[in-house]
Amino acid sequence: MTDMASSAPPPAGEVLIPKAAIRARIGELGEKITADLSDADGAPLLIGVLKGSTIFMADLARSIPLHLEFDFMSISTYAQTGPQSGVVRILKDLDLDIAGRDVLMVEDIVDTGLTLTYLLRSLGSRRPRSIRTVTLLDKSARRIVPVPVEYVGFEIPDVFVVGYGLDFQGRYRNVGDILAINDVPRLASDPALLVPDLFGLSRNP
Ligand code: IMP
Repeated sequence: MTDMASSAPPPAGEVLIPKAAIRARIGELGEKITADLSDADGAPLLIGVLKGSTIFMADLARSIPLHLEFDFMSISTYAQTGPQSGVVRILKDLDLDIAGRDVLMVEDIVDTGLTLTYLLRSLGSRRPRSIRTVTLLDKSARRIVPVPVEYVGFEIPDVFVVGYGLDFQGRYRNVGDILAINDVPRLASDPALLVPDLFGLSRNP
């Protein structure tokens, strides 16, 4: 009899943070943020950075029982200057004027800190009443620039993660758990690699 298990390659990804732990932690973050925003001047404004933060923002907002408003930005790093430059291009700016508003930036992950540094500088120049940041994940071991983050869901090691809004080439945002990718080159050569296991589907492009 052939031992199939021992000949199979190790899984390319595994659960790092299960959905139940995410739900519980968001409840705790929501309580703390609710207390801190209770003296806001008018409705606090949650600003999500598209697209990674959308799922986190949807759940977090429902754990803050205050009158809130939403806005979104979409950004990309400049290809010419490279991801390490910290130069970010705004693809979609805010719809609202944030002058005098209490703002909560909602991030999926802070890695080098370059993106958040740029965003805080850009938003800070628009004269909000206050600005705080919440990130679901903090990969602080990779930080290049120190950046203030008031609320952190989970500190994670230097590993590439997908799920719960985070993607690899546009895939896996709708996975409920956060998965650590053990073998990024293998996933890069076959981006749909995890689809059959996660969704019970045959590969689709
Ligand atoms: P920064 O390096 O802090 O500027 O992070 C830039 C962006 O890189 C984040 O907002 C994420 O979109 C993306 N990113 C960083 N690490 C990961 C990861 O492990 N998985 C998915 N996206 C990531």
